[in-house]
Amino acid sequence: MGEQGESAFKILFTEEQIKNKIIELGMQITRDYKGENLTVIGILKGAFIFAADLIRQINIPVAVDFIAVSSYGSATKSSGEVKIIKDLDISVKGRHLLLVEDIVDTGLTLKYLLENLKSREPASIKTCVLLDKPQARKVEVPIDYRGFTVDNVFVVGYGLDYDQKYRNLPYIAYLE
Ligand code: IMP
Repeated sequence: MGEQGESAFKILFTEEQIKNKIIELGMQITRDYKGENLTVIGILKGAFIFAADLIRQINIPVAVDFIAVSSYGSATKSSGEVKIIKDLDISVKGRHLLLVEDIVDTGLTLKYLLENLKSREPASIKTCVLLDKPQARKVEVPIDYRGFTVDNVFVVGYGLDYDQKYRNLPYIAYLE
């Protein structure tokens, strides 16, 4: 067994698969935003690794900012209550925003942030999500760029945590 207890993990997406998917997403985003003033907004903490890898596959000038939210609940279940604990540093009025999220589960976090950011009058707002868990959805949210779809299991790695652990795994796995 490895130092992090990896033998209990079942790998869903390898480092290589994630890398190839991000190259694809980056190409699409580059095409779609050519000539525009794009601002990528990473949702902390889960999306920090995804956002860092994604922006390096986007081949146009891009501004980057982060917003941190906390959702109340247990380690594996979100209660749906969302609070901004670190707001954006920059004004997004008149800018094209791409909201980057690690995983959409119930959809409540993304819905809350979309509504909040829309009120700041950006030129447009789209979403880019690494993992989509459609079976867990409670509210519909638009996903404009999607990495992978996953079953209703709890996943860790590549930025995603269980009780603040496992964000540093280079792959995405679920706990058996
Ligand atoms: P939602 O508001 O229910 O869509 O959940 C969004 C947030 O819950 C994500 O940004 C993650 O931080 C967390 N989350 C949901 N499902 C998982 C999972 O399977 N593993 C780790 N975190 C998760």
